[in-house]
Amino acid sequence: NRVGIIGAPITIAQPNYGVDLGPNAIRYAGLHKRLDGLNVKYEDYGNIDIKNEGSNEKDPKTNLKNLKEVTSGNQKIADKLKKIKSKGDFPLILGGDHSIAIGTIAGLYSFYQELGVIWFDAHADLNSGETSPSGNIHGMSLAASLGVGHQDLTSINGDGPKVKPENTVIIGARSIDEGERKFIKEHGVQVYTMHDIEKRGMDAVIKEAIDYLRPRVNGVHLSLDVDGIDPLHTPGTGTPVDGGPSYRETFHAMSTLYDSEILTSVEIVEVNPLLDQRNQTAEVATDMIAAVFGEKYI
Ligand code: ARG
Ligand code: MN
Ligand code: MN
Ligand code: MN
Repeated sequence: NRVGIIGAPITIAQPNYGVDLGPNAIRYAGLHKRLDGLNVKYEDYGNIDIKNEGSNEKDPKTNLKNLKEVTSGNQKIADKLKKIKSKGDFPLILGGDHSIAIGTIAGLYSFYQELGVIWFDAHADLNSGETSPSGNIHGMSLAASLGVGHQDLTSINGDGPKVKPENTVIIGARSIDEGERKFIKEHGVQVYTMHDIEKRGMDAVIKEAIDYLRPRVNGVHLSLDVDGIDPLHTPGTGTPVDGGPSYRETFHAMSTLYDSEILTSVEIVEVNPLLDQRNQTAEVATDMIAAVFGEKYI
């Protein structure tokens, strides 16, 4: 399959400037050359035109920031996903903040009613207006995809959930808010925290996630938040959390996902070159993309 690359530069679902530059930072880090080297055929559709006009004010009624703008940006993303999936492309979406998953997963829902999601992240992104400490919608995108949250966010590309909690696996979590903890208990999302990774190793965890999802789903979307990786390796991101999986562990997880042939789409989010040293985070992001598309050491 040809890979269809889309830049999705939403930034206003979180407070830092610069995450809209993520898609180009990843291209400048050498994405196309790396895919060429792997003999992966691709079409780069460029960046979706997103209007990042927002403010840092919460709406006092909803506790959400920039709901209208985040909704319309994600509507565009969902439409674009549907377009490139209709052509038969394998979507590779470059964020942008993690709110873009609302649009990508909504678009994918047209093709996979039993979509599996691997959410590789320091966070669970399971907040809603009722539980969010920040009002930032990038912390609510998984909840919205599961059908929980503001109606505007849950009704992109049709009302209701786009993915089921039992088809959702979170890996790398180490910063979970009170409301998110409750959500996980109530809805039964599969979560591998850093404790599980420490205890059992990344190899066992990623294999168990693959074996768990394979019989249940007809497609798997990888949503890779670069803050899932330890900030020693990916400092250029808005909400870094210490104590994450290393570059090595993450590369191994990506490589194992490639070998499993389970993935049907990939997105990488929260690369913010303005918060970075050199272009380190985009370079690491590109390494992880190469791994998930089959790059090996020998
Ligand atoms: N849990 C925090 C919040 O809701 C942080 C979320 C960070 N999300 C992310 N995609 N980086 O505000
Ligand atoms: Mn996230
Ligand atoms: Mn995160
Ligand atoms: Mn390995």
